[in-house]
Amino acid sequence: MCSSKTLTHLISTVVILLITTTTSFHNAVALGGDVVGGGGSNTNHIYSPCSDTKIQRSDGFTFGIAFSSRPSFFLNQTVLLSPCDRRLTLAAMNSQLSIFRPKVDEISLLSINTSAFFPDNYGGYMVAFAGRKYAARSIPAFIANSTFIVTSFTLVMEFQKGRLQNLYWKRDGCASCKGNQNFVCLNRQDCAIRTPSCKVRGGTVDCSLGIQLAFSGTDKHLRVLNSWYEVENLKQYSLYGLYSNLKSSLTSQFNNFF
Ligand SMILES: *[C@@H]1O[C@H](CO)[C@@H](O)[C@H](O)[C@H]1NC(C)=O
Ligand SMILES: *[C@@H]1O[C@H](CO)[C@@H](O)[C@H](O)[C@H]1NC(C)=O
Ligand SMILES: *[C@@H]1O[C@H](CO)[C@@H](O)[C@H](O)[C@H]1NC(C)=O
Repeated sequence: MCSSKTLTHLISTVVILLITTTTSFHNAVALGGDVVGGGGSNTNHIYSPCSDTKIQRSDGFTFGIAFSSRPSFFLNQTVLLSPCDRRLTLAAMNSQLSIFRPKVDEISLLSINTSAFFPDNYGGYMVAFAGRKYAARSIPAFIANSTFIVTSFTLVMEFQKGRLQNLYWKRDGCASCKGNQNFVCLNRQDCAIRTPSCKVRGGTVDCSLGIQLAFSGTDKHLRVLNSWYEVENLKQYSLYGLYSNLKSSLTSQFNNFF
């Protein structure tokens, strides 16, 4: 609880992701998103998730999340490629792409409303990615199938001298749902809800996805990115309470859970 003051400071953006179709996978760019105010202006004019850039702390940074089946992210079922790589035929498959431009070193919560977009209809996995020559991509994260849905994720973006090095999912080994009967712990890492309890599947729970973003490493001036340290000690759902527009739906139902 002692960190929530700092957090409110850091957090300035809640973005409701628009899930777009993938016809222009390689031409997609983020629209807007350069947050005004709060410590400097944007100097990063790269808006495509499939281009390379170097960031500094006041910049916006564009990355993508692709939703598809697990095998579709691999070449020959073995090599995990960036969704920007044309050897993957994601655009031709049943996949969805979403572009986001958070402000560097601010903790953001991406929210994906699943009432119109239900991930298991699109293969049930997601990969976060950015860059071309210096392409970084996360491992595919399981979101949903007809049995289970994981609704809460933390994505860490690691930079070195302003260049994105790594994107990874931070997991808490189910610490946040241990002993709670509404959740199932999948693979000792993800807290999952049963898919039939979701509203779109006839249940009562709003199974919208929340993705907390955090930045680690250094920017191009070797300044340390701090937001990771803020999120590190947070419980998996603790950010939700700080977002008023999610409060009514997500938090109240999660509060009922805990
Ligand atoms: C993928 O498989 C094809 C056909 O089996 C082969 O020609 C190609 O070299 C393989 N690519 C990689 C990167 O393994
Ligand atoms: C998702 O959209 C539905 C329908 O528009 C709405 O009732 C629900 O509150 C939304 N959920 C979130 C978390 O915004
Ligand atoms: C859904 O995924 C879970 C976790 O990976 C797995 O245990 C379960 O068998 C899957 N269910 C179906 C119907 O594929």
